[in-house]
Amino acid sequence: MARRPRSQEEFREDLFQSIQEFCRYKAEDNEEWKSFAQHFEYKSLDINNVEGFHELHDQTVQLEEKFHIPGNRLFYLALAPELFGSVSYNLQKGGMLDSAGWNRLVIEKPFGYDLESAKTLNEQIREVFKEEEIYRIDHYLGKEMVQNIEVIRFANAFFEPLWNNKHISNIQITLSETVGVEERGGYYDHAGALRDMGQNHMLQMLTMIAMEPPSRLLPEDIRDEKVKVLRSLRPYATSEEVEKNVVRGQYVKGNARGRELPAYREEDKVNPESNTETYFAARLFVDNFRWAGVPFYIRTGKRLPVKTTEIVVEFQGMPNNVYLGQKHKLEPNLLVIRVNPMEGIYVKINAKKPGSESEIEPLAMDFCQSCMVGINSPEAYERLLHDAARGESTYFTRWDEVASAWSFVDKIAEAWAQNPADHAEYPAGSWGPKKADEMLAAGGHHWWPVS
Ligand code: BG6
Repeated sequence: MARRPRSQEEFREDLFQSIQEFCRYKAEDNEEWKSFAQHFEYKSLDINNVEGFHELHDQTVQLEEKFHIPGNRLFYLALAPELFGSVSYNLQKGGMLDSAGWNRLVIEKPFGYDLESAKTLNEQIREVFKEEEIYRIDHYLGKEMVQNIEVIRFANAFFEPLWNNKHISNIQITLSETVGVEERGGYYDHAGALRDMGQNHMLQMLTMIAMEPPSRLLPEDIRDEKVKVLRSLRPYATSEEVEKNVVRGQYVKGNARGRELPAYREEDKVNPESNTETYFAARLFVDNFRWAGVPFYIRTGKRLPVKTTEIVVEFQGMPNNVYLGQKHKLEPNLLVIRVNPMEGIYVKINAKKPGSESEIEPLAMDFCQSCMVGINSPEAYERLLHDAARGESTYFTRWDEVASAWSFVDKIAEAWAQNPADHAEYPAGSWGPKKADEMLAAGGHHWWPVS
């Protein structure tokens, strides 16, 4: 459903073209396709008008009879968040929720702009749907390697015993993008990197790394453990603390691979005097027994040199270097989880340099999942929509997770709002403001280059 009028034929033609463009398997214009396409219907709908929802209801009942569907209904809303509430009411008033089967609501981010607006949104939706019927999408949770974090941790005897502040020096999460804001300037200029990526994807990945093992693999047990991490995040209470622990930046003109790249302020639908951050890096602490004192460094930005999402777990150094003596530091062991576009893990260990007597060199034991022929990881959305259809809610964010993430992020946004223009600049195509390197250097750390 959408506002603009379109015929069924046009809609199915779009569907056909999208499959050719985006799917792993192509469609062929034959009888099989025609019969498949009959399952898709388009309806032009004014979402503020309940009449349309009554029509939708009649149409839905007819389709359910035609295809012998038992009245299970999944509503997927990719809309401006302000509309979630009225759509939910109208679904109810239009009779769409009175069916013999289940009803589920899948909603896209952004889930609000801050804690206050998220609460309002949530209250509106909750007047119509129960919490267990609401599936809030964070597509990072649908990524194969993000889901694999749990397995790597909880199914390997050589990681879990070391997974704490006694053995881990710091953890780094990088989510870098080469793109600018593309055609989403209007939305992005209002949101910025902290709200667009920080409140959701980055904090969600952090919870997967830091959570305690759940006692059972049930959705609520896993989500209980995740929310405990969010609640244990040390809040930045003052703007000085924000200044010390969070760096924000905006890209200015630059170039990458021989291409001139415009400044953020020159992008389409962006305010030419915008102070919105297109990059942020932060040092976070999870104040519990396991993680006391271990910095979690996170960074994300648009127009960085490579598109990658990587998590680096840096282990503490050896107490002594018996090979080269105390003056020479051995490289620390690293566990690197590559989330995308490459999927895999590698462990960096020190080993003897072949042919030498006491020379040590780091080498990588590498498992590249995306390089393996025959492994075809489902796309994040593919998996999440399938999960929602089968009622599996583990990899969707529960309300208390969303609320805790907002209350953490709000403190940063509030401090920034006091000095809106106080962001650093970085040339498009570079690794972001120098201040982010300095923040790590202050703790004796540095960003590990992404692989
Ligand atoms: C979205 C953000 O949630 O995630 C975008 O709104 C961002 O700004 C995108 O580009 C990144 O997702 P992925 O899967 O391409 O890393």
